[in-house]
This record gives sequence, C-alpha cells and structure tokens, in this order.
Amino acid sequence: MTHKPIRKAVFPVAGLGTRFLPATKAIPKEMLPVVDRPLIQYAVDEAREAGIEQMIFVTGRGKSAIEDHFDIAYELERTMTDRGKDISVLEPTRLGPGNCAYVRQQEPMGLGHAIWCARDIVGDEPFAIFLPDEFMHGSPGCMAQMVAEYNRVGGNLLSVLEVPHEQVSSYGVIDPGLAQGKLTEVKGLVEKPKIEAAPSNLIISGRYILQPEVMRVLEHQGKGAGGEIQLTDAMAQMIGNQPFHAVTFDGARYDCGSKTGYIEANLAVALSRPDMADEVRAMAQRLVG
Ligand code: G1P
Repeated sequence: MTHKPIRKAVFPVAGLGTRFLPATKAIPKEMLPVVDRPLIQYAVDEAREAGIEQMIFVTGRGKSAIEDHFDIAYELERTMTDRGKDISVLEPTRLGPGNCAYVRQQEPMGLGHAIWCARDIVGDEPFAIFLPDEFMHGSPGCMAQMVAEYNRVGGNLLSVLEVPHEQVSSYGVIDPGLAQGKLTEVKGLVEKPKIEAAPSNLIISGRYILQPEVMRVLEHQGKGAGGEIQLTDAMAQMIGNQPFHAVTFDGARYDCGSKTGYIEANLAVALSRPDMADEVRAMAQRLVG
C-alpha cells in the first residue's frame, strides 16, 4: 500500500525563549547557532533531506530574523561575489520561491494551538512537525528515518527516546504497546504527567508525522497541562481510529531548550567536524584537565 507523501513541514517558532535571556532579547532562540548554523537551519535541512518541499513557520512578533535568514541576502551576496568570495555556504539558507510560508500565532496558547494556526496551509494531507529546540544529530536524519518507517506503516508517527524517570514530567510520554525493530505501537499519550502517573519513560522528542485529521481535533481541543492547548492531548484522541507508532531515532539528541544541552550540542557538532575536531578536542582536554 502506498501512503500519501510527506511534502510539508510545520516549524512552531513563536516561543519567547525566556530560558536564554538576555541572549534572546532581540533575536529568536531558533537563530542561536550550533557552531555556525542556527538551530532552525538544522531543522530545515533535516526536513529537506527527508524529501519535504514546503516549510511552514508559525512565528510571532520579534521573529523576523527567521524570514530574513531564509531569503536572499542581496547586498551580502553581491559584496562577497565582487570581492571574489565563495558564497556557497549561503546556498542552504535559500528556500525556493513559494516553498516557505509564514503564519503568526498571535498569542502563546500552546503547541497544539500553534500547529492549528497552520491548518489552511497544511490542507488535507499528512505533514511533519519539527520542534527546533530538539536538536537531532545523525545520518540519515531523524525525519528521514521516520519517513522510511511511514512509507511502510502509514498513519501517525512520533520520535521517542528514553529519559530517566525523574524527567518525564517535562515531556509528552507514550504508553507503549508492541515493539518491533525501531517501531513501537502507541497505545496512549499523556502530556507532562506526574512521575508516578507516567505510563513509561519514553518521551516525545520533537518530531512528528501526523494525518490532517489532527487539525479537526485541535479545533475543539480544550486547555491541558500548563493551561495550554496541547498537541499531545489532540493526538491522544486519535489513537484507536488511526495507526499510531513511535520511532526510536538512531542518532543523538540534544535538548537545546536547556543551556547545558545547547553547549553539549555545540561540542558534539564541533567534534564531528573535520575542519575543527582536533583543535576542539585539545581545547576541551585543556579546559577539563
Ligand atoms: C513539547 C511537547 C512535548 C514534547 C516536548 C519535546 O513540550 O508538548 O510533548 O515531549 O515538546 O521537547 P514543551 O517543551 O513545549 O513544553
């Protein structure tokens, strides 16, 4: 059986980024660089690698740097070209004409509400979601691995990973059913449960492939954990009506919503880059030694 291709991705980027203040006072947290690329660029690259063509950003006030980042920087390119400088590093920042759309979430009402704001642009087809704070490092990328599984089983898929039990209350948690290879059946979902009520320690790690019906559920979704409209609550209502699976990513995940996770991501990427790995390794050894 063939499943409708995943052509569109939604990037909720309206969050205030208060955890990184004052760094994020005047720039969006999604523009914080890991080595030399902003977080949002990694997420878009991961989407493109998975064959996704259209990027939909759910933005808010103060986020225009993201739009500029994915546009042509005419003066910069012209000046660099005139000076004989290589501009190929800018190539991945260009999204083709009509390949990106921006919609504003006027008020911070939760992840579920942010996704629902993109409903008309998503239309009636399955789509992907990327939370750019969740930095997934691996090859093939997390979404490419998920699309490979989607092509087999269809329906809805979530990326998951195991965390220590005491951390589950910060995340969406799955109630796992049968597991087979990378795939685990999802029997239930709960957003930010109390530790003692958590059905497992498998948490949703920020990548989703969802069927468009989720938009209709979100339309009527009431407030959940933290007084926000939660995507997890809407997805939970679809279980039983549609296939729902969790995918374990074969790669590394860094929580760039936290300062230490962000530093770890920078170190990991630097150590994986042939142009700087030796220098950074020696530097790190010097600092800790
Ligand atoms: C969101 C989701 C949660 C998921 C998490 C991953 O929570 O609601 O289910 O586990 O992202 O980072 P937030 O971090 O916005 O509180």
